[in-house]
Amino acid sequence: MTLIATPADRIEEAVVDAHDSQKDKHGGENASYIPVLAKVDPDLLGVCVVTVGGQIFAAGDARYEFALESISKVFTLALVIEQRGPQEVLHRVGANASGRAFNSVAALEQHNDKPMSPLVNAGAIATTSLVKAADAEDRWRQILQVQSDFAGRQISVSDEINASEQDTNFHNRAIAWLLRDGGSIYCDPMEACDVYTRQCSTLVTTVDLAVMGATLANGGLNPLTGKRVVAHGNVRYVLAAMTMEGIYTRSGDWAYTVGLPAKSGVGGGLVAVAPGQLAIAAFSPPLDEVGNSVRAQAAVAQVARTLDLGLFDVPLRGDQANG
Ligand code: DON
Repeated sequence: MTLIATPADRIEEAVVDAHDSQKDKHGGENASYIPVLAKVDPDLLGVCVVTVGGQIFAAGDARYEFALESISKVFTLALVIEQRGPQEVLHRVGANASGRAFNSVAALEQHNDKPMSPLVNAGAIATTSLVKAADAEDRWRQILQVQSDFAGRQISVSDEINASEQDTNFHNRAIAWLLRDGGSIYCDPMEACDVYTRQCSTLVTTVDLAVMGATLANGGLNPLTGKRVVAHGNVRYVLAAMTMEGIYTRSGDWAYTVGLPAKSGVGGGLVAVAPGQLAIAAFSPPLDEVGNSVRAQAAVAQVARTLDLGLFDVPLRGDQANG
């Protein structure tokens, strides 16, 4: 990974090239189990990089608002790590890959009702229940606040998306009750499920998503507002969770090929973090069979490759130049 700041013109070119080369590619289908997501224009594509210095490079539909969905799990996790510390989250939720679909009930049964990761639905509902809150509205207010602090602007919920999710949310309710049965949920299960569903139904742009990722890349300090959102020492736990499960059952493939902590959502968003440097976000609604945006994965991977970013890249020493 390059440790020297990447020049602005290289980033600009990488973002525009990734957009232009992916925009006519097809493949995948919009999420349809949440009815309203099926109606989003599948041709939309936004790409954006935000650096730890607060520079923004955007291309395509980067200002179009879409549903945050599972990417919300990252920010609630950060909030709960702040409130309860990393050890409690590890103990109560876990940090291993579930090896199953993001909404798997079998994964819970297989692991004695322990959710395994805060980034699958079971773990995210458990994590939402761990927010220290007086009641459902307080829980929701804190989660919306942390999303807004990460984005550097007031984030709001889409009533249309929330209604569509709440009306069809039977699977997640079943997961919440299984968590209750196994002692892995820490408030009323239906409150946790309701607030979790709301946190998925907020609207962000690709630029917002890149700012949110850049806040992690910048050690928890929002590069646009200068506000500290997460303690520097806690960011590593969030990035570790993203590495293990952020791209679901493709997280290993992603680590192998791209090598950056990342998170996707069924709304079509995806964000990857290059610690100390920048975040890359993309949005395109059609998903692959495990729930990751096809074109967002390709666009983010292309930017990361072009800019030579990757946590597992070992810097070349002079005496290894021919190796
Ligand atoms: O709970 C759900 O199923 C959705 N609200 C979010 C799932 C999701 O985004 C999975 N991501 N790729």
